[in-house]
Amino acid sequence: MELRADFPIFRDSTGEHPLVYLDNAATTQKPQTVINRLTEFYAHENANTHRGLYPLSLVATDAYENARVVLQKFINAPSADEVIFTRGTTEGINLFAYSWGRTFLQAGDEIIVTEMEHHSNIVPWQEAVRATGAVLKWVPVKDGELDLDVYDSLLSNKTKLVAVGLVSNVLGTINSVKEITARAKKFGALVLADGAQAAAHMAMDVQDLGIDSLAMSAHKMYGPTGIGALWVRGELLDTMPAFMTGGNMIEDVRHDGAVYQTRAHKFEAGTMPIAEVIAMTPMIEWIQNVGFEKIRAIEDEVTRYAMEKLGAIDGMIMYGTKNLSHRAPVFPFCLSDVHPHDVADTLGSMNICVRAGKHCANPLHNALGVAATTRASLAIYNTTDDIDRLVEGLNEVKRIYE
Ligand SMILES: Cc1ncc(COP(=O)(O)O)c(C=O)c1O
Repeated sequence: MELRADFPIFRDSTGEHPLVYLDNAATTQKPQTVINRLTEFYAHENANTHRGLYPLSLVATDAYENARVVLQKFINAPSADEVIFTRGTTEGINLFAYSWGRTFLQAGDEIIVTEMEHHSNIVPWQEAVRATGAVLKWVPVKDGELDLDVYDSLLSNKTKLVAVGLVSNVLGTINSVKEITARAKKFGALVLADGAQAAAHMAMDVQDLGIDSLAMSAHKMYGPTGIGALWVRGELLDTMPAFMTGGNMIEDVRHDGAVYQTRAHKFEAGTMPIAEVIAMTPMIEWIQNVGFEKIRAIEDEVTRYAMEKLGAIDGMIMYGTKNLSHRAPVFPFCLSDVHPHDVADTLGSMNICVRAGKHCANPLHNALGVAATTRASLAIYNTTDDIDRLVEGLNEVKRIYE
């Protein structure tokens, strides 16, 4: 596959057990252009941004601010100054939960989350309600999808925010966030979408979705670790107090106080991961060069193959919706009564990378009534050969443990 050749980790992996990387929901591999950009920056362009008046710093600042515009266009945000660079999805949601949550939530207000959220989209809200006396409400999961009838019954004038993932990191469910948002808006509630698992697989148009905020991580979309973004609708962002304070986010500091910058810059205190921000530009260009239509078509084909081949293994229990149009390429499963850690360990010995455990989604595993699962998650470079190797590995697990 020609796209796969862009990723040096696969080029370099040969021998008896070439790498089969099926842990993309944890983090994706990086194309050469992203790796090159990081090296080029450090080798030839390194300087701090927004501070120096010399050419090197001005060039770095330009590249940094250009990445913001590239990201703005990628998610179709109305304005670049609404895009805040963060360390990733976790930091983005925490930023929102602290800044907005602790300012605007009051005792008795309600926040709705779902049982399929990653802990990053649960625990910050638990902290926010603990600090304010607001209440957390949960949308349950039925047959691998959100139970929207229960969601409807939870919505009321007390609902101040709905926090929902675009795609579940365990089940791969693509949630109907546009519909969820439309229903929330009837009660005047805000909607924050967790885009961590969607970003590599589908277009995220914040205006079309109608949401108020979107969090994402570059490392799950072929980009560097340690960087991501939080988009917040401009008028809302204007009402939010600073989350972190210090250098770079201020206009002026006097003995008796400080004047802050506005919009995104108010939330980027201190020196940011400059090289990583700048490398988000080739990351997005790489995705756009392939295009989401092609990404979806390739991933769908491998998904169908995987569902068929995995489903045919004796003792296989697969979780998640069977409606493939609502499904990103993530497959959680249990193999007979073999512990998922033993499954992952044996696969690992064959250089097949999957994840085992609760995948930072304990409430979901409790709802599924299962202690842990093994998860295979795909990206654009995975092929049906990878699935054949996975099946081979699972047969080896059965030979050892059954
Ligand atoms: C759905 C979802 N949300 C949030 C996160 C947290 O992302 P990060 O660790 O990059 O902050 C993850 C990571 O797996 C995730 O899958």
